[in-house]
Amino acid sequence: MIFQAPKGTFDWMPPRSESVLAIRDALAAPVRRAGYSYIETPIFEDTRLFQRGVGESTDIVTKEMYTFQSKGGQSLTLRPEGTASVMRAVLEHGLYGGPLPIKLWYSGSYFRYERPQAGRYRHFSQVGAEALGAQDPAIDAELIVLALDGYASLGLRRVRLLLNSLGCRECRPGYRAALQEFLRGLDLDEATRHRVEINPLRVLDDKREEVRAQLTDAPLVIDHLCGACKAFHEEVRGLLSAAGVSYIDEPKLVRGLDYYTRTTFEFVHDGLGAQSSVGGGGRYDGLSEMIGGPPLPGVGWALGVDRTVLAMEAEGLLSERPTRVDVFAVPLGDEARRRIFPLVTGLRRAGLAVDMAFGGRSVKGAMKAADRSGARYAVILGERDLEAGAAQIKDMTTGEQTAVPLAEVVDVLKGRLS
Ligand code: HAM
Repeated sequence: MIFQAPKGTFDWMPPRSESVLAIRDALAAPVRRAGYSYIETPIFEDTRLFQRGVGESTDIVTKEMYTFQSKGGQSLTLRPEGTASVMRAVLEHGLYGGPLPIKLWYSGSYFRYERPQAGRYRHFSQVGAEALGAQDPAIDAELIVLALDGYASLGLRRVRLLLNSLGCRECRPGYRAALQEFLRGLDLDEATRHRVEINPLRVLDDKREEVRAQLTDAPLVIDHLCGACKAFHEEVRGLLSAAGVSYIDEPKLVRGLDYYTRTTFEFVHDGLGAQSSVGGGGRYDGLSEMIGGPPLPGVGWALGVDRTVLAMEAEGLLSERPTRVDVFAVPLGDEARRRIFPLVTGLRRAGLAVDMAFGGRSVKGAMKAADRSGARYAVILGERDLEAGAAQIKDMTTGEQTAVPLAEVVDVLKGRLS
């Protein structure tokens, strides 16, 4: 029996896996340039962190967590997202006592027991950034701009920004009550009626046509914002416009996590079908208190690496080119292999990307491997070359071949490739 990756998971295989690495780097580069430091937290946490942080009434907590008991009897959960863990780490290490804001970025694996479909997996990868300790609209705008810069650096042109505000603990209760009253008057199935009572905002996100049709006249949070939230939102919008960022006001945008306040946003791509969100985030000014900390406002985002790969594919931006090396070494015979091995090592130590033919191949097989490697030069060492103390350097583009003394091969190739 050959095992298969578990349902809802998959392997990134070469050459595509190389693009994944490059995409992660590109998405993280803008925040790294903007003073965000790298943080790495454990892949599992105390289950209660997510119950309290992400919210008891969310799909993530009620249906999608990978929860298990440790041998010590503690309930642990594979992280379904990164924000609660980052906040936990900041509180645990007392960083909030130092200079603010605390700007952090991360990259890693996340786990949600979702129904798998294109773009929705049980194990997926995010690059995230969080800024804690500042209630300043400029930091919301900064994060949004940096995410868009990341997408743009990959060449993506079809990422759109949806923007909303979800209000704060002053104005949200009034809105929640008004929305509940409206929703209670609709023709909804029992599960949705239950949702109206525990998490009415999520009903706005229902994808079913029969529900959507009834939501046309639903009250909008934007009409219920208090003065402070309204002013904050206007500032964010103004800063985005000043940075040349276009956005779509999406008053029905709600998010799948309970910690959001004020600014919320999603980056969507039209080439992905139902799972169109390539990234998302927002402000979470109450999260610290939800998990037992002092008041510590925060804002951040997470960008889905897997969906960014799909978006790039949809825009024809992924190349299937294999990893290239500069030089491919071809030993002909056992003695040549013994002599070429230190040469390969020397070339690599000199900073060149070098591969060699393994497995005692025929000249033809080895030259085919050299071709496939994409190398600019092949270094061929045959019996006669050994006697002469030289190697053949073959330019793989022109086919031109020159004999070079073994001791000079590193310098000659370094020179030709610089
Ligand atoms: P989220 O919207 O749940 O937010 O996830 C962010 C992104 O992760 C999504 O836009 C999507 O690209 C990707 N993603 C989520 N679930 C899956 C899945 N099952 N399969 C593939 N990709 C997926 C958060 O996780 C928040 N922690 C973001 C945040 C940071 N808010 C504030 N700070």
